[in-house]
Amino acid sequence: MRLIHSVSELRAALAGQRETAFVPTMGNLHAGHIALVEQARASGHPVVASIFVNPLQFGAGEDFQRYPRTLPADCEQLEAAGCDIVFAPDMHEMVPEPQTFQVQPPLACELCGAFRPGHFSGVATVVLKLFNMVQPAVAVFGKKDYQQLFILKGLVRQFNLPIRILEAETTRAADGLALSSRNGYLSAAQREEAPRLVRLLREAAARIGAGERDYAGIEQAASNDLAAHDWQVDYIAVRSQATLLAPSPDTRDLVILAAARLGTTRLIDNIEVCVG
Ligand code: PAF
Repeated sequence: MRLIHSVSELRAALAGQRETAFVPTMGNLHAGHIALVEQARASGHPVVASIFVNPLQFGAGEDFQRYPRTLPADCEQLEAAGCDIVFAPDMHEMVPEPQTFQVQPPLACELCGAFRPGHFSGVATVVLKLFNMVQPAVAVFGKKDYQQLFILKGLVRQFNLPIRILEAETTRAADGLALSSRNGYLSAAQREEAPRLVRLLREAAARIGAGERDYAGIEQAASNDLAAHDWQVDYIAVRSQATLLAPSPDTRDLVILAAARLGTTRLIDNIEVCVG
């Protein structure tokens, strides 16, 4: 496995290379990331993983400074998972000038975007840059970041990028908590409380599956339960999988998305539900 820091070295390494499968990350890898690498490998292409903590997707007062940087340990995991190239670009390669061009994706102000202004613009901009640098045939993203995945599929479609997006199911701990680098910020007591989020999403999905259609009531009940257990709820929202907008009464393929904070740690999760 090669560790590469510059775009010129990356281009030289990829020259004459077969088509690649790409896994963009911000590092501090866990089993969820490794599942993405395994899915990339299963595509049959050599695998490139990137590690870059992207300042453009963090807002003022968010955790950019304290986001864990664990490159040596990440490289060990990636090598063991069969990754071929790790691209960990230097900051000046990714954000070369103070005034950066930024992609403005649709839905960037919805859901998480309403609470993290500029976040999805930062994500889409850096992923577009990484796509231009790596030029992969395939890229793998997790469904845990459902809105991110939705926006990046739109980026690929609308900018006519010849990249096939593979969607990976969310990797969960035994108690259901979606794996996330930010889980490491939780205290022991918060870690014990954290699976409430997925439990409530599953309950909400079961109610919808059983025929309830009062989505606002279902959202409110889950939100009240979280608030009663000291969570600060950003949103719980039943949306259409196809548009990520509020569903009409006859929308069949739904997703329930949630974002809430335990102390200073913001957790997100979602669950898909299809109604008959
Ligand atoms: O999901 C992430 O880790 C990041 O948002 C991504 C896609 C690597 C862009 O910085």
